[in-house]
Amino acid sequence: MKKIEELQGYLEERNFSQLFLLTDENTSKYCLPILLEKVDILTDRQAVLLEIPAGEENKTLKTAKNLINSLAESDADRNSCLLSLGGGVVCDLGGFIASVYKRGIQNINLPTTLLSMADAAIGGKTALNHSGIKNLIGTFNFKTEVFIDTDFLSTLLYPQIMDGAAEMLKTFLVFDWESAQEMMKTSDFTKINPFLIQHCAQIKENIVAQDPYDTSVRKKLNFGHTLGHAAEMFYGLSHGHSVAIGMHYAIDLSVKHANYSPQKAKEIQNFLELHYTIPDYRKDMTQLIPLMRQDKKNSNGNINFVLLD
Ligand SMILES: NC(=O)c1ccc[n+]([C@@H]2O[C@H](COP(=O)([O-])OP(=O)(O)OC[C@H]3O[C@@H](n4cnc5c(N)ncnc54)[C@H](O)[C@@H]3O)[C@@H](O)[C@H]2O)c1
Repeated sequence: MKKIEELQGYLEERNFSQLFLLTDENTSKYCLPILLEKVDILTDRQAVLLEIPAGEENKTLKTAKNLINSLAESDADRNSCLLSLGGGVVCDLGGFIASVYKRGIQNINLPTTLLSMADAAIGGKTALNHSGIKNLIGTFNFKTEVFIDTDFLSTLLYPQIMDGAAEMLKTFLVFDWESAQEMMKTSDFTKINPFLIQHCAQIKENIVAQDPYDTSVRKKLNFGHTLGHAAEMFYGLSHGHSVAIGMHYAIDLSVKHANYSPQKAKEIQNFLELHYTIPDYRKDMTQLIPLMRQDKKNSNGNINFVLLD
């Protein structure tokens, strides 16, 4: 993970044959002017702009196909570079295309949401939703470089900031209780300590370095995601909000099955209930369970949860 100020030098050194810049309609409007101001080479080298509509519903094979067609029509060769300027949707999609186009071109993530800076842009996982199932298609793309600029965060809406706060809390609950407590003391997340963002991203980077292919310790980052992914599909809520719901339930299971402290559990659930609308998911379990059966963590027909101990 590098700072955006290092991007100019990085691109100059590599001398890519063409630069492609993937945005969505919001990041074109709010983030692209900031980026072009800071990284001259994108203008000088006439980076080709590729824009998609905003939103999770566009993280699909259809959008991927259109973008691959655009790369081919622009004669992108294997020495081309795709820069994904956006939240988790743009980074997941851009990373996927970069990993399959001509068997792989350089991918650079320029995350613009709190969620993508602290989590989604890091770790090389790419994804498309398919047949109504979250992240059914995807690759590991370890060719990805990430450049961070917290200036992008100023135009996010408050619920989008809270989406990122949920994924950050997840990482801290699993790996750093003190930082989790600091998060839970924050009342206005627009003023979130940039050190916490960087610290969270660093934790993820370290975990991915230990277990890039998600076979052991990296799986812990799925805390809150079993019910979370099902809730995202069932309630149509954002990813971060759904992870908050998933953590709420996983904490109950942690007390019941892993001896997790009931006091800590209460503290975390109070925080979640204060900052997120938590639906009565227990009454919807009949519909949520089949969705949880689709989860990639499952094995031998069982539904697996990450619990806190
Ligand atoms: N690959 C991974 O490891 C990983 C991890 C976590 C989440 N994800 C994925 O990330 C996605 C969620 O990411 P997200 O919450 O960033 O959603 P998103 O990419 O949909 O962004 C949320 C909204 O904010 C807008 N936006 C982005 N940056 C902006 C800015 N600076 N100012 C104003 N508006 C801006 C977007 O256009 C969009 O409307 C999900 O698809 C999830 O599955 C992936």
